[in-house]
Amino acid sequence: MVDSNNAPAGAPATATPPEPATEPQPAPEPVTDQQSPPNPAREPETPTELATETQSPPRPANEPQSEILPASHWAQVPLPEEPQDDGDDDSAYGEAASSTASLSASVLEYRTLHGRTFHSDMGKAESWIPNDEQQQDSMDIHHHMCTLALEDKLFLAPLQPEKIQKVVDIGTGTGIWAIDFADKFPNAEVIGTDVSPIQPPWVPPGVKFELDDANLPWTWADNTFDYVHVRCLFGSIVDWSALYREAFRCCKPGGWFEDFENSINMLSDDGSVAPGSPMDQWGQVFWAGGEKFGRTFRVVEDEIQRKCMEEAGFVDITVWEHRCPIGTWPSDPRLKTLGQFSKMVLESDAEGYVLYMWNAVMGWSPEEIQVYLAHLRRQLRDKNTHASYRQTVVYGRKPEPDEVRA
Ligand SMILES: C[S@@+](CC[C@H](N)C(=O)[O-])C[C@H]1O[C@@H](n2cnc3c(N)ncnc32)[C@H](O)[C@@H]1O
Repeated sequence: MVDSNNAPAGAPATATPPEPATEPQPAPEPVTDQQSPPNPAREPETPTELATETQSPPRPANEPQSEILPASHWAQVPLPEEPQDDGDDDSAYGEAASSTASLSASVLEYRTLHGRTFHSDMGKAESWIPNDEQQQDSMDIHHHMCTLALEDKLFLAPLQPEKIQKVVDIGTGTGIWAIDFADKFPNAEVIGTDVSPIQPPWVPPGVKFELDDANLPWTWADNTFDYVHVRCLFGSIVDWSALYREAFRCCKPGGWFEDFENSINMLSDDGSVAPGSPMDQWGQVFWAGGEKFGRTFRVVEDEIQRKCMEEAGFVDITVWEHRCPIGTWPSDPRLKTLGQFSKMVLESDAEGYVLYMWNAVMGWSPEEIQVYLAHLRRQLRDKNTHASYRQTVVYGRKPEPDEVRA
Protein backbone atom coordinates (compact mmCIF):
# COMPACT_ATOMS: atom_id res chain seq x y z
CA MET A 1 0.00 0.00 0.00
CA VAL A 2 1.32 3.45 -0.72
CA ASP A 3 0.89 6.59 1.23
CA SER A 4 2.00 9.80 -0.45
CA ASN A 5 1.39 11.61 -3.70
CA ASN A 6 4.17 14.12 -3.76
CA ALA A 7 6.98 13.97 -6.24
CA PRO A 8 10.10 12.34 -4.75
CA ALA A 9 12.80 14.58 -3.40
CA GLY A 10 15.84 12.92 -4.88
CA ALA A 11 19.30 14.20 -5.53
CA PRO A 12 19.80 15.48 -9.06
CA ALA A 13 20.85 12.75 -11.44
CA THR A 14 23.91 12.43 -13.56
CA ALA A 15 21.98 12.33 -16.78
CA THR A 16 24.69 10.86 -18.98
CA PRO A 17 26.39 7.64 -17.90
CA PRO A 18 30.16 7.78 -18.30
CA GLU A 19 31.85 5.84 -21.07
CA PRO A 20 32.34 2.23 -19.96
CA ALA A 21 35.82 1.38 -18.69
CA THR A 22 37.60 -1.72 -19.94
CA GLU A 23 38.00 -3.29 -16.50
CA PRO A 24 35.10 -3.36 -14.01
CA GLN A 25 35.50 -0.55 -11.48
CA PRO A 26 34.26 -0.36 -7.87
CA ALA A 27 30.47 -0.14 -7.82
CA PRO A 28 29.22 3.44 -8.17
CA GLU A 29 25.81 4.22 -6.72
CA PRO A 30 23.15 4.25 -9.40
CA VAL A 31 21.79 7.57 -10.43
CA THR A 32 18.85 8.66 -8.33
CA ASP A 33 15.98 10.85 -9.34
CA GLN A 34 15.74 13.82 -11.57
CA GLN A 35 12.71 15.94 -12.28
CA SER A 36 13.15 18.28 -15.12
CA PRO A 37 11.13 20.55 -17.33
CA PRO A 38 10.75 19.49 -20.94
CA ASN A 39 14.05 19.01 -22.73
CA PRO A 40 14.76 21.00 -25.84
CA ALA A 41 14.00 19.10 -29.02
CA ARG A 42 16.80 16.78 -30.09
CA GLU A 43 18.08 16.28 -33.56
CA PRO A 44 16.00 13.48 -35.08
CA GLU A 45 17.92 10.23 -35.48
CA THR A 46 18.28 8.74 -38.92
CA PRO A 47 15.96 5.74 -39.09
CA THR A 48 17.70 2.52 -40.08
CA GLU A 49 15.94 -0.40 -41.73
CA LEU A 50 16.53 -3.71 -39.98
CA ALA A 51 17.97 -5.72 -42.86
CA THR A 52 18.78 -8.94 -41.06
CA GLU A 53 18.30 -10.37 -37.62
CA THR A 54 21.92 -9.73 -36.77
CA GLN A 55 21.77 -5.97 -37.34
CA SER A 56 20.96 -3.82 -34.36
CA PRO A 57 19.40 -0.35 -34.38
CA PRO A 58 21.88 2.51 -33.95
CA ARG A 59 22.80 3.45 -30.39
CA PRO A 60 23.37 6.99 -29.22
CA ALA A 61 26.98 7.79 -28.41
CA ASN A 62 26.34 7.67 -24.64
CA GLU A 63 25.16 4.05 -24.81
CA PRO A 64 27.53 1.08 -25.08
CA GLN A 65 28.16 0.22 -28.70
CA SER A 66 27.37 -3.42 -29.25
CA GLU A 67 25.99 -5.80 -31.84
CA ILE A 68 23.62 -8.71 -31.51
CA LEU A 69 25.40 -12.01 -31.13
CA PRO A 70 23.84 -14.95 -32.98
CA ALA A 71 21.58 -17.28 -30.99
CA SER A 72 24.14 -20.09 -31.42
CA HIS A 73 26.81 -18.02 -29.58
CA TRP A 74 25.54 -18.95 -26.13
CA ALA A 75 26.02 -22.71 -26.61
CA GLN A 76 29.64 -22.10 -27.61
CA VAL A 77 30.79 -20.15 -24.56
CA PRO A 78 31.30 -21.97 -21.25
CA LEU A 79 28.73 -21.21 -18.58
CA PRO A 80 30.46 -19.31 -15.74
CA GLU A 81 30.47 -21.01 -12.34
CA GLU A 82 27.35 -20.50 -10.27
CA PRO A 83 28.05 -17.53 -7.93
CA GLN A 84 27.97 -18.40 -4.21
CA ASP A 85 24.70 -17.47 -2.53
CA ASP A 86 25.66 -15.21 0.37
CA GLY A 87 22.07 -14.88 1.49
CA ASP A 88 22.08 -11.21 0.59
CA ASP A 89 19.17 -11.45 -1.77
CA ASP A 90 16.52 -13.69 -3.17
CA SER A 91 18.50 -15.39 -5.91
CA ALA A 92 16.72 -18.69 -5.49
CA TYR A 93 13.51 -17.49 -7.04
CA GLY A 94 12.16 -20.47 -8.91
CA GLU A 95 10.55 -20.48 -12.34
CA ALA A 96 7.46 -22.49 -11.63
CA ALA A 97 5.39 -24.20 -14.30
CA SER A 98 2.76 -21.94 -15.81
CA SER A 99 -0.96 -22.35 -15.37
CA THR A 100 -2.97 -23.52 -18.34
CA ALA A 101 -6.46 -23.59 -16.86
CA SER A 102 -9.07 -24.58 -19.42
CA LEU A 103 -11.39 -21.67 -20.17
CA SER A 104 -14.45 -21.35 -22.35
CA ALA A 105 -15.32 -17.91 -23.82
CA SER A 106 -13.51 -16.90 -27.03
CA VAL A 107 -11.61 -14.08 -25.30
CA LEU A 108 -10.24 -16.77 -23.05
CA GLU A 109 -9.05 -18.86 -25.98
CA TYR A 110 -5.47 -17.98 -25.38
CA ARG A 111 -2.75 -18.49 -27.94
CA THR A 112 0.04 -20.75 -26.72
CA LEU A 113 3.75 -20.65 -27.47
CA HIS A 114 6.03 -23.35 -26.11
CA GLY A 115 3.92 -23.90 -23.04
CA ARG A 116 3.16 -20.24 -22.27
CA THR A 117 -0.19 -18.52 -22.90
CA PHE A 118 -0.87 -15.15 -24.55
CA HIS A 119 -4.07 -13.15 -25.07
CA SER A 120 -6.61 -14.21 -27.70
CA ASP A 121 -6.74 -12.45 -31.08
CA MET A 122 -7.94 -8.88 -30.64
CA GLY A 123 -7.68 -5.81 -32.90
CA LYS A 124 -4.12 -4.66 -33.54
CA ALA A 125 -2.96 -6.07 -30.22
CA GLU A 126 -0.04 -8.45 -30.13
CA SER A 127 1.31 -8.45 -26.62
CA TRP A 128 4.75 -9.95 -26.11
CA ILE A 129 3.92 -10.49 -22.44
CA PRO A 130 2.42 -13.88 -21.51
CA ASN A 131 -0.73 -13.84 -19.42
CA ASP A 132 -0.29 -16.99 -17.36
CA GLU A 133 0.14 -17.23 -13.61
CA GLN A 134 3.90 -17.16 -13.69
CA GLN A 135 3.90 -13.84 -15.57
CA GLN A 136 1.09 -12.45 -13.41
CA ASP A 137 3.23 -13.09 -10.30
CA SER A 138 6.12 -11.32 -12.00
CA MET A 139 3.88 -8.34 -12.90
CA ASP A 140 2.86 -8.02 -9.25
CA ILE A 141 6.51 -8.01 -8.11
CA HIS A 142 7.15 -5.43 -10.83
CA HIS A 143 4.32 -3.28 -9.45
CA HIS A 144 5.94 -3.31 -6.01
CA MET A 145 9.28 -2.45 -7.58
CA CYS A 146 7.75 0.50 -9.48
CA THR A 147 6.17 1.95 -6.35
CA LEU A 148 9.51 1.58 -4.53
CA ALA A 149 11.19 3.45 -7.39
CA LEU A 150 8.67 6.28 -6.87
CA GLU A 151 9.45 6.23 -3.13
CA ASP A 152 6.18 4.50 -2.20
CA LYS A 153 3.99 6.47 -4.56
CA LEU A 154 1.56 5.23 -7.19
CA PHE A 155 1.92 8.32 -9.36
CA LEU A 156 3.73 11.61 -9.57
CA ALA A 157 1.17 13.95 -11.17
CA PRO A 158 -0.07 16.60 -8.72
CA LEU A 159 -3.60 15.20 -8.43
CA GLN A 160 -6.09 17.02 -6.22
CA PRO A 161 -7.99 14.20 -4.50
CA GLU A 162 -11.31 16.10 -4.41
CA LYS A 163 -11.22 16.46 -8.21
CA ILE A 164 -10.53 12.80 -8.99
CA GLN A 165 -13.81 11.21 -10.04
CA LYS A 166 -12.98 9.08 -13.05
CA VAL A 167 -9.68 7.38 -13.86
CA VAL A 168 -8.45 4.90 -16.44
CA ASP A 169 -5.38 2.65 -16.35
CA ILE A 170 -4.53 1.53 -19.90
CA GLY A 171 -2.85 -1.90 -20.15
CA THR A 172 -3.59 -2.62 -16.50
CA GLY A 173 -2.11 -6.16 -16.40
CA THR A 174 -3.24 -7.84 -13.19
CA GLY A 175 -5.02 -4.61 -12.25
CA ILE A 176 -2.88 -4.18 -9.14
CA TRP A 177 -2.17 -0.49 -9.78
CA ALA A 178 -5.90 0.25 -10.38
CA ILE A 179 -6.86 -1.59 -7.18
CA ASP A 180 -4.24 0.25 -5.10
CA PHE A 181 -5.32 3.56 -6.64
CA ALA A 182 -8.99 2.88 -5.81
CA ASP A 183 -8.01 2.12 -2.21
CA LYS A 184 -6.51 5.60 -1.98
CA PHE A 185 -9.38 7.28 -3.84
CA PRO A 186 -12.48 5.41 -2.63
CA ASN A 187 -14.87 7.89 -4.27
CA ALA A 188 -13.33 7.54 -7.72
CA GLU A 189 -14.48 5.25 -10.51
CA VAL A 190 -11.36 3.45 -11.75
CA ILE A 191 -11.38 1.53 -15.03
CA GLY A 192 -8.53 -0.81 -15.96
CA THR A 193 -8.23 -2.01 -19.56
CA ASP A 194 -6.16 -4.80 -21.05
CA VAL A 195 -6.19 -7.35 -23.85
CA SER A 196 -5.98 -10.16 -21.29
CA PRO A 197 -8.81 -10.78 -18.81
CA ILE A 198 -6.45 -11.63 -15.97
CA GLN A 199 -7.73 -9.21 -13.32
CA PRO A 200 -9.20 -10.55 -10.08
CA PRO A 201 -12.97 -10.49 -9.46
CA TRP A 202 -12.54 -9.29 -5.85
CA VAL A 203 -11.89 -5.58 -6.23
CA PRO A 204 -12.73 -2.46 -4.24
CA PRO A 205 -16.03 -0.76 -5.11
CA GLY A 206 -15.54 1.62 -8.02
CA VAL A 207 -13.03 -0.57 -9.86
CA LYS A 208 -13.97 -2.28 -13.08
CA PHE A 209 -11.97 -3.93 -15.81
CA GLU A 210 -12.61 -3.89 -19.56
CA LEU A 211 -11.07 -5.79 -22.44
CA ASP A 212 -9.79 -3.25 -24.93
CA ASP A 213 -6.98 -2.82 -27.43
CA ALA A 214 -5.16 0.43 -26.70
CA ASN A 215 -3.92 0.52 -30.30
CA LEU A 216 -7.43 1.13 -31.60
CA PRO A 217 -9.35 4.42 -31.21
CA TRP A 218 -10.52 4.55 -27.60
CA THR A 219 -14.22 3.99 -27.00
CA TRP A 220 -14.76 6.76 -24.43
CA ALA A 221 -16.23 10.17 -25.21
CA ASP A 222 -14.09 13.32 -25.24
CA ASN A 223 -13.29 14.80 -21.81
CA THR A 224 -14.16 11.68 -19.80
CA PHE A 225 -11.30 11.23 -17.32
CA ASP A 226 -9.68 13.28 -14.57
CA TYR A 227 -6.58 11.10 -14.81
CA VAL A 228 -5.28 8.72 -17.47
CA HIS A 229 -2.51 6.36 -16.37
CA VAL A 230 -0.20 4.17 -18.44
CA ARG A 231 2.64 2.02 -17.15
CA CYS A 232 5.04 -0.10 -19.17
CA LEU A 233 3.45 -0.40 -22.58
CA PHE A 234 6.90 -0.35 -24.24
CA GLY A 235 6.94 -2.96 -27.01
CA SER A 236 3.12 -3.00 -27.20
CA ILE A 237 2.19 0.21 -29.01
CA VAL A 238 2.08 0.58 -32.79
CA ASP A 239 1.70 4.38 -32.85
CA TRP A 240 2.64 6.29 -29.70
CA SER A 241 1.48 9.63 -31.11
CA ALA A 242 -1.99 8.17 -31.68
CA LEU A 243 -2.06 6.71 -28.14
CA TYR A 244 -1.18 10.07 -26.61
CA ARG A 245 -3.75 11.85 -28.83
CA GLU A 246 -6.41 9.51 -27.49
CA ALA A 247 -5.25 10.17 -23.93
CA PHE A 248 -5.53 13.91 -24.61
CA ARG A 249 -8.99 13.59 -26.18
CA CYS A 250 -10.35 11.48 -23.31
CA CYS A 251 -8.81 13.63 -20.54
CA LYS A 252 -11.03 16.34 -19.06
CA PRO A 253 -9.66 19.89 -19.36
CA GLY A 254 -7.50 20.28 -16.24
CA GLY A 255 -7.07 16.50 -16.05
CA TRP A 256 -3.71 14.73 -16.03
CA PHE A 257 -2.05 12.05 -18.12
CA GLU A 258 0.94 10.09 -16.79
CA ASP A 259 3.09 7.43 -18.43
CA PHE A 260 5.77 5.41 -16.60
CA GLU A 261 8.08 3.50 -18.95
CA ASN A 262 11.16 1.33 -18.40
CA SER A 263 14.11 1.01 -20.71
CA ILE A 264 14.80 -2.57 -21.79
CA ASN A 265 18.52 -1.76 -22.00
CA MET A 266 20.75 -2.82 -19.10
CA LEU A 267 23.61 -0.42 -18.41
CA SER A 268 26.57 -0.08 -16.09
CA ASP A 269 28.71 2.92 -15.29
CA ASP A 270 31.82 0.80 -14.74
CA GLY A 271 31.86 -1.49 -17.76
CA SER A 272 30.61 -4.52 -15.84
CA VAL A 273 27.75 -4.89 -18.33
CA ALA A 274 30.24 -5.37 -21.15
CA PRO A 275 29.28 -5.37 -24.82
CA GLY A 276 28.48 -8.98 -25.72
CA SER A 277 27.64 -9.97 -22.14
CA PRO A 278 24.25 -11.62 -21.51
CA MET A 279 22.82 -8.47 -19.93
CA ASP A 280 24.02 -6.31 -22.83
CA GLN A 281 22.47 -8.71 -25.32
CA TRP A 282 19.08 -8.54 -23.56
CA GLY A 283 18.61 -4.95 -24.72
CA GLN A 284 20.17 -5.54 -28.14
CA VAL A 285 17.80 -8.35 -29.06
CA PHE A 286 14.71 -6.58 -27.70
CA TRP A 287 15.58 -3.39 -29.60
CA ALA A 288 16.08 -5.24 -32.88
CA GLY A 289 12.96 -7.32 -32.21
CA GLY A 290 10.90 -4.18 -31.60
CA GLU A 291 11.96 -2.75 -34.97
CA LYS A 292 10.92 -5.94 -36.69
CA PHE A 293 7.71 -6.23 -34.68
CA GLY A 294 6.66 -2.62 -35.40
CA ARG A 295 6.37 -1.82 -31.69
CA THR A 296 9.39 -0.01 -30.33
CA PHE A 297 11.18 -0.87 -27.10
CA ARG A 298 13.13 2.43 -27.27
CA VAL A 299 10.46 4.54 -25.58
CA VAL A 300 12.85 5.90 -22.94
CA GLU A 301 15.88 6.24 -25.23
CA ASP A 302 13.93 8.10 -27.93
CA GLU A 303 12.11 10.33 -25.39
CA ILE A 304 8.83 9.25 -26.91
CA GLN A 305 6.79 10.17 -23.82
CA ARG A 306 7.85 13.82 -23.70
CA LYS A 307 7.71 14.30 -27.46
CA CYS A 308 4.24 12.74 -27.83
CA MET A 309 2.92 14.62 -24.81
CA GLU A 310 4.01 17.94 -26.31
CA GLU A 311 2.67 16.94 -29.72
CA ALA A 312 -0.73 15.99 -28.27
CA GLY A 313 -1.13 19.40 -26.60
CA PHE A 314 -0.51 18.67 -22.91
CA VAL A 315 0.99 21.47 -20.80
CA ASP A 316 2.92 21.60 -17.52
CA ILE A 317 4.84 18.56 -18.74
CA THR A 318 7.26 17.18 -16.18
CA VAL A 319 9.88 14.53 -16.81
CA TRP A 320 11.18 12.32 -13.97
CA GLU A 321 14.22 10.23 -14.75
CA HIS A 322 15.67 7.44 -12.67
CA ARG A 323 18.19 4.62 -12.86
CA CYS A 324 16.88 1.43 -11.30
CA PRO A 325 19.62 -0.91 -10.07
CA ILE A 326 19.45 -4.63 -10.82
CA GLY A 327 20.69 -6.66 -7.86
CA THR A 328 21.72 -5.82 -4.34
CA TRP A 329 25.02 -4.16 -5.23
CA PRO A 330 24.17 -0.54 -4.19
CA SER A 331 25.19 0.37 -0.65
CA ASP A 332 22.27 2.76 -0.19
CA PRO A 333 19.57 0.69 1.61
CA ARG A 334 16.67 1.99 -0.49
CA LEU A 335 18.47 1.29 -3.76
CA LYS A 336 19.60 -2.10 -2.47
CA THR A 337 15.97 -3.08 -1.82
CA LEU A 338 14.92 -1.68 -5.17
CA GLY A 339 17.67 -3.67 -6.90
CA GLN A 340 16.63 -6.80 -5.06
CA PHE A 341 13.09 -6.46 -6.40
CA SER A 342 14.12 -5.54 -9.95
CA LYS A 343 16.32 -8.63 -10.04
CA MET A 344 13.43 -10.66 -8.67
CA VAL A 345 11.18 -9.39 -11.47
CA LEU A 346 13.62 -10.77 -14.04
CA GLU A 347 14.33 -14.02 -12.23
CA SER A 348 10.66 -14.71 -11.56
CA ASP A 349 9.93 -15.04 -15.28
CA ALA A 350 12.95 -14.39 -17.50
CA GLU A 351 11.61 -16.93 -19.98
CA GLY A 352 8.22 -15.22 -20.13
CA TYR A 353 9.83 -11.86 -20.91
CA VAL A 354 11.92 -13.12 -23.82
CA LEU A 355 9.94 -16.00 -25.31
CA TYR A 356 7.62 -14.18 -27.72
CA MET A 357 10.10 -11.61 -28.97
CA TRP A 358 13.10 -13.91 -29.23
CA ASN A 359 11.27 -16.97 -30.57
CA ALA A 360 8.23 -15.80 -32.54
CA VAL A 361 9.77 -12.52 -33.74
CA MET A 362 13.55 -13.11 -33.88
CA GLY A 363 13.50 -16.83 -34.66
CA TRP A 364 15.57 -18.21 -31.77
CA SER A 365 14.75 -21.83 -30.92
CA PRO A 366 13.45 -22.60 -27.41
CA GLU A 367 16.70 -24.48 -26.72
CA GLU A 368 18.83 -21.48 -27.78
CA ILE A 369 16.73 -19.29 -25.50
CA GLN A 370 17.23 -21.63 -22.54
CA VAL A 371 21.01 -21.69 -23.01
CA TYR A 372 21.09 -17.88 -23.22
CA LEU A 373 18.91 -17.62 -20.10
CA ALA A 374 21.33 -19.83 -18.16
CA HIS A 375 24.08 -17.30 -18.99
CA LEU A 376 21.81 -14.39 -18.09
CA ARG A 377 20.96 -15.89 -14.69
CA ARG A 378 24.67 -16.27 -13.89
CA GLN A 379 25.30 -12.64 -14.69
CA LEU A 380 22.24 -11.55 -12.70
CA ARG A 381 23.75 -13.28 -9.67
CA ASP A 382 27.26 -12.02 -10.23
CA LYS A 383 28.06 -9.50 -7.49
CA ASN A 384 30.68 -7.86 -9.72
CA THR A 385 28.02 -6.81 -12.20
CA HIS A 386 26.65 -3.39 -11.30
CA ALA A 387 23.74 -3.14 -13.69
CA SER A 388 20.85 -0.73 -13.86
CA TYR A 389 18.31 0.51 -16.37
CA ARG A 390 16.59 3.80 -17.04
CA GLN A 391 13.03 4.57 -15.98
CA THR A 392 11.14 7.66 -17.10
CA VAL A 393 7.84 9.03 -15.87
CA VAL A 394 6.29 11.89 -17.83
CA TYR A 395 3.09 13.63 -16.80
CA GLY A 396 1.19 16.55 -18.26
CA ARG A 397 -2.09 18.44 -17.92
CA LYS A 398 -4.77 18.99 -20.54
CA PRO A 399 -5.24 22.77 -20.70
CA GLU A 400 -8.59 24.43 -20.03
CA PRO A 401 -10.26 25.84 -23.19
CA ASP A 402 -9.47 29.46 -22.16
CA GLU A 403 -5.77 28.56 -21.79
CA VAL A 404 -5.76 27.22 -25.33
CA ARG A 405 -7.39 30.41 -26.69
CA ALA A 406 -5.02 32.71 -24.76
C1 LIG B 1 4.37 -4.94 -18.91
S1 LIG B 1 2.68 -5.25 -18.61
C2 LIG B 1 2.30 -3.88 -17.57
C3 LIG B 1 1.05 -4.10 -16.77
C4 LIG B 1 0.65 -2.92 -15.87
N1 LIG B 1 0.49 -1.69 -16.61
C5 LIG B 1 1.66 -2.73 -14.76
O1 LIG B 1 2.53 -1.86 -14.89
O2 LIG B 1 1.58 -3.46 -13.76
C6 LIG B 1 1.95 -4.77 -20.16
C7 LIG B 1 0.47 -5.00 -20.18
O3 LIG B 1 -0.05 -4.37 -21.36
C8 LIG B 1 -1.02 -5.21 -21.93
N2 LIG B 1 -1.15 -4.89 -23.34
C9 LIG B 1 -0.29 -5.18 -24.35
N3 LIG B 1 -0.75 -4.70 -25.52
C10 LIG B 1 -1.92 -4.08 -25.24
C11 LIG B 1 -2.87 -3.39 -26.03
N4 LIG B 1 -2.70 -3.26 -27.35
N5 LIG B 1 -3.96 -2.89 -25.42
C12 LIG B 1 -4.16 -3.02 -24.08
N6 LIG B 1 -3.27 -3.67 -23.28
C13 LIG B 1 -2.17 -4.19 -23.86
C14 LIG B 1 -0.50 -6.61 -21.69
O4 LIG B 1 -1.54 -7.57 -21.78
C15 LIG B 1 0.07 -6.48 -20.27
O5 LIG B 1 -0.90 -6.77 -19.32
